[in-house]
Amino acid sequence: MLAEPFNWQPGMWKVLIVVMCVALLGCLQAQELQEHVSIILLGATGDLAKKYLWQGLFQLYLDEAGRGHSFSFHGAALTAPKQGQELMAKALESLSCPKDMAPSHCAEEKDQFLQLSRYRQLKTAEDYQALNKDIEAQLQHAGLREAGRIFYFSVPPFAYADIARNINSSCRPGPGAWLRVVLEKPFGHDHFSAQQLATELGSFFQEEEMYRVDHYLGKQAVAQILPFRDQNRKALDSLWNRHHVERVEIIMKETVDAEGRTSFYEEYGVIRDVLQNHLTEVLTLVAMELPLNVSSAEAVLRHKLQVFQALRGLQRGSAVVGQYQSYSEQVRRELQKPDSFHSLTPTFAAVLVHVDNLRWEGVPFILMSGKALDERVGYARILFKNQACCVQSEKHWAAAQSQCLPRQLIFHIGHGDLGSSAVLVSRNLFRPSLPSSWKEMEGPPGLRLFGSPLSDYYAYSPVQERGAHSVLLSHIFHGRKDSFITTENLLASWGFWTPLLESLAHKAPRLYPGGAESGRLLDFEFSSGRLFFSQQQPEQLVPGPGPAAMPSDFQVLRAKYRESPLVSAWSEELISKLANDIEATAVRAVRRFGQFHLALSGGSSPVALFQQLATAHYGFPWAHTHLWLVDERCVPLSDPESNFQGLQAHLLQHVRVPYYNIHPMPVHLQQRLCAEEDQGAQIYAREISALVANSSFDLVLLGMGADGHTASLFPQSPTGLDGEQLVVLTTSPSQPHRRMSLSLPLINRAKKVAVLVMGRMKREITALVSRVGCEPKKWPISGVLPHSGQLVWYMDYDAFLA
Ligand code: BG6
Repeated sequence: MLAEPFNWQPGMWKVLIVVMCVALLGCLQAQELQEHVSIILLGATGDLAKKYLWQGLFQLYLDEAGRGHSFSFHGAALTAPKQGQELMAKALESLSCPKDMAPSHCAEEKDQFLQLSRYRQLKTAEDYQALNKDIEAQLQHAGLREAGRIFYFSVPPFAYADIARNINSSCRPGPGAWLRVVLEKPFGHDHFSAQQLATELGSFFQEEEMYRVDHYLGKQAVAQILPFRDQNRKALDSLWNRHHVERVEIIMKETVDAEGRTSFYEEYGVIRDVLQNHLTEVLTLVAMELPLNVSSAEAVLRHKLQVFQALRGLQRGSAVVGQYQSYSEQVRRELQKPDSFHSLTPTFAAVLVHVDNLRWEGVPFILMSGKALDERVGYARILFKNQACCVQSEKHWAAAQSQCLPRQLIFHIGHGDLGSSAVLVSRNLFRPSLPSSWKEMEGPPGLRLFGSPLSDYYAYSPVQERGAHSVLLSHIFHGRKDSFITTENLLASWGFWTPLLESLAHKAPRLYPGGAESGRLLDFEFSSGRLFFSQQQPEQLVPGPGPAAMPSDFQVLRAKYRESPLVSAWSEELISKLANDIEATAVRAVRRFGQFHLALSGGSSPVALFQQLATAHYGFPWAHTHLWLVDERCVPLSDPESNFQGLQAHLLQHVRVPYYNIHPMPVHLQQRLCAEEDQGAQIYAREISALVANSSFDLVLLGMGADGHTASLFPQSPTGLDGEQLVVLTTSPSQPHRRMSLSLPLINRAKKVAVLVMGRMKREITALVSRVGCEPKKWPISGVLPHSGQLVWYMDYDAFLA
């Protein structure tokens, strides 16, 4: 019987097309099954590999092997093959499966994983060439297509360059396959060394090939910060800012000490070991502007960098440091140092960080970490302001409704009384939304955390706890670069921390006994941009170089200098005295004339004064103050060299001066700098004449250069020393050479002139100028003699007590 001719219905074409597509997809998937990944773990028998990396690789294998990839694992080290094989076998003994996997299945998976894992010695260039040949042979033999190669450097950084060279010259995969090299910290010791290391690695690898690990980015609670912020945008949008956040604490406390690791620790200390990397990374995740798409690695990395740009520079007073008492003894023992050796390496640090942008201005970010403390715990805690008053008595307060209970959000990184990663949100804030991989948790009854019972929080923990390295290995495999440290990110972080590290290099840390015995010794407070220990330093346990004189040990000295009043003190007290005097002058001027005209110098000496005015003078009549510049460098106003930029960074952005009261010097006109024909000096002079009565400033703040210059009036240069001109263009012997300056006649019309002189570098000129008469051509400062106003010298002891 003949088959009935097939009757094509119109819709059947569509069905056929769908069937063909499915078949094609199936073929493609089958082809994908052939994709092979080789993972080479360098340092396969080391500590990190034993503790975390092999387990992470096993987890990666469990997660991915069934999904279109085949694997081979090459454990590598310098050790000879036989011994290395034995050591690696030991490291692999303790692999564990997820809790919910049946034991028989687990044994099967482990067995397969072990069969795919081989030890090999990687020492010479030939060893690397042989590795490459073996990978290629394996691919060819099994008919596999290569997806890529991961080289995990679990080795000390001094070995990086050699390994990198060998990989680059003989172990790159063929076209179409990727190379990923994974690097573990330390990535340098300061900005300079990090830059060197980055340049070296950059000569072997492309930026996209490098995955610098900060294992904190793999901690589940840390990895949840951005997704949480994203998923709870609606609730957080209005709260995540300076109006609602009281402070942010980013804490990593440890009970272990540095014993057994002092050769590393002695070189690094807690700031380099933990704050520069782990805690800073957490800070950026909390503080960054949330990208529209948090899964865009490019956007996340860009927004992170913006946080670094907004960080206020750290001062010595931004931090306190401590050292557990037995540390020096451990260093002496482990590093064979003489009995007289006392280490200055901090094992505890607390640092006050400010993010100077519109969202976070004024919100303290506290970063703190230490060894040998009373507990092991890590968290990022966002404490919200509480401006509510509850009328009913406390017994009627309900956790979910009462606005009078503490309001906080905690990314609990691990350990502590809770013992696991968690996200805690005060019930009176909002009910959070978390992905299904997180579940609501219960803690032990009666548990209190951060001042509230656990029941006052919505508390979530991961359904499956995963080690940080395991999380990151999965991200490396999937090419998720946002979980890693780019070169730019690394250098920005070192750029931020290096000045503080340098300023603390010779500071003796406060000694603490360790554990619970430390009592309140390490408690600290912060205010006015500074952070300090709450308690006075008790008797030093180790004799230091002798107690340094504190500013408070001295009275402010009043005397005369060049026939004019002199105020002299240690620098801190001097600045505070000068700031008080300026405020008093301002208040008087505003009371009498309704406004205060203040002309300020640039350079480094006034920076501390600006900061003092910005942080400790709330009664200053800024709204009625006009700010003028005494002098300016001929650079754009946004240039870091510009005096106006210094004023902006240290004062203007922290106070509220009406913008029409701010008078930068017009050095940049018609896209040119200080061109005579643009008449910038004349324009400024006209502005002064128009706004300042009799062109007589209420107060002019000057400095004195080591060569006797003041404002931008330099020795051996007649410009601006006499004549009619109020504002002049001058030439400096040092760069940038071209300047704009108030003239000496204009300065001398002021009602008050204060000259601030600080530092040892000024000793000689201070002594010399004290003896000379009025010779402005040789020493322009000697020509400062207000006609009817007052001249006051402010000198610190370093400059004055020669
Ligand atoms: C490391 C530091 O990066 O982090 C160690 O070098 C520190 O000093 C460790 O102990 C803490 O990590 P974790 O995962 O135990 O919190």
